[in-house]
Amino acid sequence: MAISISRNSGASLTAQIQEFIREEIEEGTLQPATRLPSSRRLAEDLGVSRSVVVEAYAQLVAEGYLDTARGASTRVVRHLPRETVLSPLLDAGHVPSARWDLRTGGHSSAVFPRAEWLAAYQRALAAPGAGDRDDGYPPLAGETALRVELARYLGRAHGVRTAPERIVITGGFAQALSLLGADLLERGVSTLAVEDPGHPGLRHFIHASGLRPCPVPVDEEGIDVERLADSGARAVLVTPAHQFPTGITLTPARREALARWARERDGWIIEDDYDGGLWYDPARTRPLALQRLVPERVIYAGTASKTLSPGLRLGWLAAPEPVLSRLLRLRARLDLGSESLSQRAFAELLRGGLFDRHLRRLNKLNAVRRAALDEAVRRHLPGARVLGPAAGLHAYVRLPRHTDEAALVAGALRRSVLVRGGAAFHTRPRRDAPALVLGHARLPRTGVADAVRELAARA
Ligand SMILES: Cc1ncc(COP(=O)(O)O)c(C=O)c1O
Repeated sequence: MAISISRNSGASLTAQIQEFIREEIEEGTLQPATRLPSSRRLAEDLGVSRSVVVEAYAQLVAEGYLDTARGASTRVVRHLPRETVLSPLLDAGHVPSARWDLRTGGHSSAVFPRAEWLAAYQRALAAPGAGDRDDGYPPLAGETALRVELARYLGRAHGVRTAPERIVITGGFAQALSLLGADLLERGVSTLAVEDPGHPGLRHFIHASGLRPCPVPVDEEGIDVERLADSGARAVLVTPAHQFPTGITLTPARREALARWARERDGWIIEDDYDGGLWYDPARTRPLALQRLVPERVIYAGTASKTLSPGLRLGWLAAPEPVLSRLLRLRARLDLGSESLSQRAFAELLRGGLFDRHLRRLNKLNAVRRAALDEAVRRHLPGARVLGPAAGLHAYVRLPRHTDEAALVAGALRRSVLVRGGAAFHTRPRRDAPALVLGHARLPRTGVADAVRELAARA
């Protein structure tokens, strides 16, 4: 263990060791539950007598920094400093722990198709050749087998007009967006229009890539295309199938208008199909990809984050030439491609029909959750309305106009329900449109009704 002590310092060796360890714990360099060397080993390493270390450890145990309770080893205590798990896309600061977590963006590991993934991974491992290239690196655009399967799947399931050679595998949508941002900048496009409300984490990425995110309002039909045209932007990021977070599906008239805007403006549309595959509305069919209306102007992007796990960091985009070649040139400056075994396992899942089966199971489960959520909102939030089709992993609940959204969110937290109000997604807070955004993916199946009842309970 690296400890710096000095024999010329006025402080005793014991005090120096104590001070050093205390500071490292407070700074978080020594993490909770880290095992420290035995007093004998540390004394040897530092060339001091063992009693010096024993005394330092004893003092830190007395102060609550170290713990020797279990067995002989000395560890940093588990609760200092408290570890917080951040969702990088949404949570900029401290996240309080709560019994019911209704934030969007997470996933329950219980729904991951472990057996199928394991079987697909084994098949990928057993297949001859570790990749397409003989040096073992994946092609920059991604494993050919996955691009072939994705082209088939995206065409069949979402009507995307593409081909394997026009697909790039990315580290989730986040990486796709960074690449697209860099490409737009290089071509002199400095503003990217975004839906308002929209994803605050994505706005952050857009900022970080040097572009200016320009908010365009979303109404009951989806993004307001006239306002987009007025904004002067030449590129826009949209979630047309299931707008994030309102859940609204872009109407056919707006889709046509958006396609027209792209043609006339010489503009670019980034279609973020973040929850493609998750649709369980018995009354409405999922619209096909916007991309098919103007394939030469749309970059269609998808991700495995909602259907499999965000931990896979697996996404894809289908882009027209010459955008695709430019993206690959940009990527060549940044990394050496995406991890290939997961790509090949995902290709196996798609090829064998196991992914379709997984989606059917997931949609059944989510339909039950959504029905419970609708019923709980009817019962516990009178006057509130759930917008949009039954799809994805969240629902947007519009509250009666007089509702104090901030007070409702704060009150919910006091009852251990972590939920975000609509304000967290708007670029400018709007008092006249109070809402809640309810993510149901992190809850156990039966938790939805309890969570809504609890959040609506008046203290
Ligand atoms: C609107 C939206 N787009 C994209 C993503 C997924 O990003 P990634 O594929 O980087 O996990 C999310 C995930 O929370 C999202 O909410």
